[in-house]
Order: sequence, then C-alpha cells, then structure tokens
Amino acid sequence: MAQLPILTFPDPRLRTKARPVARVDDKVRQLIDDMLETMYAAPGIGLAASQVNVHRRIIVIDVSAEHDQPLVLVNPVIEVAEGMQEREEGCLSVPGFYETVERAERIRVRALNRDGEGFEKEADGLLALCIQHECDHLEGKLFVDYLSNLKRQRIRKKLAKLPKAS
Ligand code: NI
Repeated sequence: MAQLPILTFPDPRLRTKARPVARVDDKVRQLIDDMLETMYAAPGIGLAASQVNVHRRIIVIDVSAEHDQPLVLVNPVIEVAEGMQEREEGCLSVPGFYETVERAERIRVRALNRDGEGFEKEADGLLALCIQHECDHLEGKLFVDYLSNLKRQRIRKKLAKLPKAS
C-alpha cells in the first residue's frame, strides 16, 4: 500500500468529472487500498479518487470512531435523498477550513463494493453527508462551491500559497 498525494483547492484537476469504473480488477483494488491508507493517514473520514488525481468513480469513507469500518463505493449513485441537515464540513483538499453546508439528512445509495458486487445502502446524519460530499468530488464539485463567492475567494487565496501536489 502507498500513500498518495492529495490535490488541494484551487487545483483545476479537482474539477474533472470522473468516469465510471468498467471492471473492479486488481488495479482498482490496489487504488482502493491506497486511498484508504491515504485517508486514514491524513487523517480524514472520506476520500474520492478525484482528490488523488485518478478520475474514476471511486470513493472510500470511514466515519466510525475506531476507524475500523471502511466503506468502499465504486460507481456510486444516490437514488433517494430526503430531509435536510446543516453541519460543519471539511475536506482533505481544502485543509484547515470548516464551513456549514446544507445536505440531505437521509439518502439511499447504490454502488459496487471492493469485489465488484452491487449493493444498496441507506445512510443518515454524518455518513449521509459524507457520501454526498464524496459523490460531489466525482462531479468535480467541492464543498466550497456551496459557500458565498467572498468566502470561497478568501479560502482560495490562502490555499493558493501552499505547495501543490504533483
Ligand atoms: Ni472532500
């Protein structure tokens, strides 16, 4: 396993729309394992392949207190989104910034697992937020896009001074 460099906003590569995974093979599983290692090391509770500059529809999440319940979603599709929650949100690609964003409270998502098998999962609260946040990454969308222009520009200016991942 290897830790991968994480792209930082406003890197334009974060705006790439990710393509579906045609087949979950060993190469994809290697990427998933590297993404999990990268997420845990950061530390973070979610990571999309887009953030490590691989523009395929893969996300990994672990919102458990013990960091021992990894959730892998390949080609995720949010089929149902209901209710509303507002929580402070952060992102490994926007380090050091936390802002309140409006999300659906409950969702149902369909995806493939690490073995390429289809499954459906219902989620609410933090897990639902996290799945929505990571699915946004696959569309090239970041949580800062939900903020005011002024706030986003302020974050952009501060982060543009950081060294970039290659
Ligand atoms: Ni993020």
